[in-house]
Amino acid sequence: MSTMESLIGLVNRIQRACTVLGDHGGGENMSLWEALPSVAVVGGQSSGKSSVLESVVGRDFLPRGSGIVTRRPLVLQLHKIEEGRSDYAEFLHQPRKKWTDFAAVRKEIQDETDRITGKTKAISNIPIQLSIYSPNVVNLTLIDLPGLTKVAVEGQQESIVQDIENMVRSYVDKPNCIILAISPANQDIATSDAIKLAREVDPTGERTFGVLTKLDLMDKGTNALDVLEGRSYRLQHPWVGIVNRSQADINKNVDMIIARRKEREYFETSPEYGHLSSKMGAEYLAKLLSKHLETVIRQRIPSIIALINKTIDEINAELDRVGRPIATDSGAQLYTILELCRAFDRVFKEHLD
Ligand code: GDP
Ligand code: NA
Ligand code: MG
Repeated sequence: MSTMESLIGLVNRIQRACTVLGDHGGGENMSLWEALPSVAVVGGQSSGKSSVLESVVGRDFLPRGSGIVTRRPLVLQLHKIEEGRSDYAEFLHQPRKKWTDFAAVRKEIQDETDRITGKTKAISNIPIQLSIYSPNVVNLTLIDLPGLTKVAVEGQQESIVQDIENMVRSYVDKPNCIILAISPANQDIATSDAIKLAREVDPTGERTFGVLTKLDLMDKGTNALDVLEGRSYRLQHPWVGIVNRSQADINKNVDMIIARRKEREYFETSPEYGHLSSKMGAEYLAKLLSKHLETVIRQRIPSIIALINKTIDEINAELDRVGRPIATDSGAQLYTILELCRAFDRVFKEHLD
C-alpha cells in the first residue's frame, strides 16, 4: 500500500472513531471530522444516486428503486485491504458483527432505517454508518443521502421537502465535502436539483463532480454531448456519464461485474460517446474521485496535522480530567482516536516531510 493510501486509510478510521463519539460534523466548531474530506451524493429522487454509489464501490448492497428509498444518511467508509482477502462489511450499530452476505447488508440498511423512522416515508437525520472492507475499493468516505423532492407525497409531512434540503445542505455546505451531483440524462439539465444546489454551495465548481446517469434512457435522436463536453454547464472537473442498471436489470439480479462490462461496452460501441469512452463509467469515476481525494488530502495535510495535534491535546486533557485508565466505551474511543492521530502524524513525518 502506498503512503497516500495508508494516510487516507487513517483518515477514514479517524472519521469512523469520531462518529462513534457522536461527531459527524454537526457541531459549531471545526471538528476533525469536517477537516477530513468526504464525498456526498446529491440529486433528485430516483436520479440514480444509490446506483452510482454501488457502482463506484463495485458491490450490490444498497436499497434502490422508485420513490423515496434512501431515508437516512448512509455514511459509507471504504477500506482497502490486502489482495486475496474477501470482502466484508460492518455496521457501527452492530460493531462486533462481520457481514459477508451483501444482500443481508441491504436488508439491514432497510431494517435499520425502519427502526428509526418506522415503515413510513419519513426521513431521519441520524446517519447509518457502514464500513466495507475489500481489496477492490479505494479508501473513500461516501455519503448517500435522500433525494431532493419538490412535493410531499401521501403519508409525508408538508415540511419534508424543506427537511430533505436542509439535511442535504448540512453535508454539502462543508467546504471539505466533495459533491457528487447526480443528474439524469433524460431530464433537462437546466432543471437539475443537483446542479442547482451545487451551484449555490460551490459557485466556482471546484468541489463538484457532475455525473450524468440514465444515458441509455434518452429519447432516440438526442444525445448528451453538450453536457458531457461541458458546454451546457461548466464545472472545473470533467463530467462523467454513467449507465447504471435499469429496474429490469435489478429485478433480474444482473450482477455488478456484468453491469460494469455492459456499461463499458455501451460507451465503447456508442457512435456518440465512443471518443469519450475512456473517461466515462463508474470505474473511471471511482478513480477520478480517489485521485481528487489524494490531492485534497495532500493540500490539507498541514491543517489536518494542526487539528490532529489540537485533538491530541484535547483528548489528553479529557483523559486527565476523567482519570486514566478508564473503562467506558467513550474512553476507549478517545484512546483509539489518539492512537490513530499519532499514527497519521508518524506516517506523514516518515514519508512526506
Ligand atoms: P436514487 O433514488 O437517486 O438513489 O436512485 P436509485 O439508484 O434508487 O435508482 C432509481 C431507479 O432508476 C432504479 O430503478 C434504477 O434501476 C434506475 N436507474 C438508475 N440509473 C439508471 C441508468 O443509468 N439507466 C437505467 N436504465 N436505469 C437507471
Ligand atoms: Na429512489
Ligand atoms: Mg437512493
